[in-house]
Amino acid sequence: MQVRRVGVVGCGLMGSGIAQVAAMAGLQTIVREVSEPLLDKGLASVKTSLAKFVEKGTLTADQAAQAHARLRPTLKLAELADCDLVIEAIIENLDRKRELFAELDRIAKPEAIFASNTSSLSITEMMTATKRGPRFIGMHFFNPVPLMKLVELVKTVVTEPAVVELGLDYARKLGKTPILTSDRAGFIVNRLLVPYLLDAVRALEEGFGTIEDIDHGMKLGCNHPMGPFTLLDYVGIDTTYYIAEILFNEYREKRFAPPPLMKRMVIAGMYGRKAGKGFYDYGDPKNPKMNRQLLG
Ligand code: CAA
Repeated sequence: MQVRRVGVVGCGLMGSGIAQVAAMAGLQTIVREVSEPLLDKGLASVKTSLAKFVEKGTLTADQAAQAHARLRPTLKLAELADCDLVIEAIIENLDRKRELFAELDRIAKPEAIFASNTSSLSITEMMTATKRGPRFIGMHFFNPVPLMKLVELVKTVVTEPAVVELGLDYARKLGKTPILTSDRAGFIVNRLLVPYLLDAVRALEEGFGTIEDIDHGMKLGCNHPMGPFTLLDYVGIDTTYYIAEILFNEYREKRFAPPPLMKRMVIAGMYGRKAGKGFYDYGDPKNPKMNRQLLG
């Protein structure tokens, strides 16, 4: 089986990127959202990203226009009936994902492969909402999807080897490097990244340094593209908190437990860049200022 037509469910930050890279790889792509404004917002970010590639000379204006033309937006799930691969990128809520996959299972052709972009929920639990367990995988992309080269390919205890191969090939076709892992909370990357981010918050709580100093430490001392607090603000403090809770529930280890400061920030709505405030204040988005209120 060859993947010719891709369906993406969800056109938010991740879904729009996943749809964009499929269209850029020459595949007919259908992306579904639940409302017109959400669809428009996602498509606008695809347009901006394609324009950045043209500006940088990575794509010609013609290639960008063709990629855009291969992308078909829809509000109807039924339009994904002919897709060979359907990638889900909706809200990180297991019940919502299970409902969606159960419905998709009735709509999609029997040979279609289902993939979830979840960063930490159980692929096995999603799979059991369908009758296509052997054709169900995790395909975890990274933010910003058009730039990040990695895809985590997650197999369950029942995934068919040929489906794993197809998933790996698909990621390569997008120009990404896939890594293979099995269905355990956090997979490979978040299993390592999240405790590191939580530890940065603990270091701040314990007075090891300021937000900026800790960020500079990892950026300039270890050549990370972003320090941990810039990355937390970028990924979302709420998102990271939520992933940490899932990891903690799975492994019951202290290193996965979200620190109190993080919990308070989530309660206060300080989610990071998207909320205008997190470890930094984004009043002037091009010149974020350290959030001094957090320092006690
Ligand atoms: N599409 C196309 N081009 C884009 C883009 C997009 N969406 N976003 C940025 N760019 C381009 C910019 O135009 C810029 O181009 P030039 O170099 O020609 O100016 C270039 O990419 C670099 O962007 P910026 O100057 O804005 O910023 P930067 O140099 O800091 O790079 C970054 C941005 C690629 C995001 C980099 O900072 C980075 O790699 N950060 C770490 C990201 C990371 O760790 N992501 C994983 C998060 S964890 C996750 O996603 C998983 C999870 O489950 C939580």
